[in-house]
Amino acid sequence: MISEKTLFAQHVEKGLSDDKKFLSSMYFYDKKGEALFRQIMKLDEYYLTDCEMEILQSQGKNIAEIFDDGELEIIELGAGDGIKTKELLRNFDFNQITYRPIDISQQAIIDITDKMNEWLPALKVKGICGDYFKMIKDFKTDKRKLILFLGSNLGNMTDEQAKGFIGQLHHVMNSGDSILLGLDLIKSENIVLPAYSDNKGITAEFNLNLLHRINKELGGNFKLKDFSHLATYNEKEGIAKSYIKSSKNQSVYIEEVDKEFHFKKDELIHTEVSRKYDLDIIRNIIEGTSFQLKHQFTDHKHYFTDLILTKSN
Ligand SMILES: C[S@@+](CC[C@H](N)C(=O)[O-])C[C@H]1O[C@@H](n2cnc3c(N)ncnc32)[C@H](O)[C@@H]1O
Repeated sequence: MISEKTLFAQHVEKGLSDDKKFLSSMYFYDKKGEALFRQIMKLDEYYLTDCEMEILQSQGKNIAEIFDDGELEIIELGAGDGIKTKELLRNFDFNQITYRPIDISQQAIIDITDKMNEWLPALKVKGICGDYFKMIKDFKTDKRKLILFLGSNLGNMTDEQAKGFIGQLHHVMNSGDSILLGLDLIKSENIVLPAYSDNKGITAEFNLNLLHRINKELGGNFKLKDFSHLATYNEKEGIAKSYIKSSKNQSVYIEEVDKEFHFKKDELIHTEVSRKYDLDIIRNIIEGTSFQLKHQFTDHKHYFTDLILTKSN
């Protein structure tokens, strides 16, 4: 089996050798990245967490009632710290549900298991560390399922990738199974852009931490002061993007791949896409599946939505 480190090294070599350099947002979450993301979630500018928290706190009971019909496996993709999820789960009958958080970060799984045991002691928690893209095939069981994909994590995919991903989930789900999909809605630049480029510079540190991680884990010699964070938002498309920008012509050597990478002044490394949605975009993504949009929940500002998509056959 290929090690995590080798996979990371292969990705970095591919991404930094491309004409349009890129690194995947999947690699943001080392220990430092997780701690920075927890700080981001508390920023005034980062409205996404508060809005989804409001939905799950105020409407969690109504959501749980929809599934109040026997045993249920609740699988969460990219569970993170579980603080919002707790607000939903506390409304379920713990005799009927098993909660399965999945996260690529081992530490996240250890922490969320401990926390859920503390918050909701009667809840059965079976955490799994791994890449959810690779684990989808394991979801094909007879058990009734609700898949949670919160925090607008779908928005880190292009629409084409999202369509493929939703199609794969559809393939392993049974008729009557559902996805609870948390999505950030399209809105104006003055609200969206600060969420990805805050005043305190935490989102910048979070983005640049990718280079720090390459230095630490793959023996890179990036000088972080010679790179900066850049966030953009195209309101018409509803797409925010984050980049790391090279402030000068420079070369960086990465020991693990034994290769030097060249960066021109102002050259960009694309690190994240954060798609914003409306219902037409989602209908296009689920087209060709038998998912039906059964319920929609929103916060009072209508910034964010949680949708229930149910497989009909
Ligand atoms: C932006 S956080 C969101 C956490 C939570 N869902 C929320 O809404 O607050 C993304 C989480 O997904 C995890 N993650 C990212 N890509 C993943 C992947 N391919 N497989 C499993 N976990 C992943 C990260 O480790 C991180 O904990």
